[in-house]
Amino acid sequence: MVDLPRASAAKESAETTRHPRIAVVWSVLSAEIERFGAGTGATLRILDVGGGSGGFAVPLAELGHDVTVVEPSANALASLRQRAADADVTDRVVAHQADLDELLDVVDPGTADLVLCHSVLEMVDYPDTALDILAKVCAPGGAVSILVANRIAAVFGKALSGQFGTALDLLVHVDGVVEGRDTMKRRFETATLTALVGGSGLVTEQVHGVGVVGDLIPASAAQSDTGAGEALREFELATAARVPFRDMATRIHLLARKPMR
Ligand SMILES: C[S@@+](CC[C@H](N)C(=O)[O-])C[C@H]1O[C@@H](n2cnc3c(N)ncnc32)[C@H](O)[C@@H]1O
Repeated sequence: MVDLPRASAAKESAETTRHPRIAVVWSVLSAEIERFGAGTGATLRILDVGGGSGGFAVPLAELGHDVTVVEPSANALASLRQRAADADVTDRVVAHQADLDELLDVVDPGTADLVLCHSVLEMVDYPDTALDILAKVCAPGGAVSILVANRIAAVFGKALSGQFGTALDLLVHVDGVVEGRDTMKRRFETATLTALVGGSGLVTEQVHGVGVVGDLIPASAAQSDTGAGEALREFELATAARVPFRDMATRIHLLARKPMR
């Protein structure tokens, strides 16, 4: 029996969940999973919308949960299947090739205990409609985890690199993008994101900044397996919920709950 791929897959997942740049999100998700199970170790039905190659889905399946990934890219789905196979969790990961707009064609309403929508709302045509769909697939009492790009950090990043014209474009554009030459359709700010989420009937419980300084410093200082990386991780966790640090981070993470009725 060859067990090396499994060992390296487990190491990869451990590094993913502890990486300073994303540790805050994993900390919130872990607490939500703990809350749901309340010590019983219950299996969650997790839905990862725009789940890509499984950076979140596979580690969650490794924790013993049933994960459905809905993702439009065939290439990303192929990588997801390989990653799930390497981690020996193929039986806990279901994949559908579909867009967020088509979510209700492949997933029944009210069936997910935890819905992830990470780095996708920047790309969709209608974020308010997308939020309504995410709220529909979430089970009453379940949670929706949203991760989006932060306009403020983009402005800061460009200004710090001396690109003041681009920084000003990002600052004044209604959607926080550079018209005609941006990879995203929009960026968010804490207030606009919480207002959008509220419009779908979901109730925001937590907002954190992800990457308060992690994306402004050299990659070598952010490696998860070094002392410096560990110090950065602690810094990110300590500042993530504190204003103004929270609102300056590269990404905004929001956890919202669907009311029981
Ligand atoms: C930056 S990746 C994020 C992947 C994953 N959520 C993560 O955080 O690791 C964005 C993903 O969203 C997917 N995507 C883009 N537009 C989408 C849409 N309209 N509906 C669903 N997924 C979409 C892309 O194919 C890509 O896999």
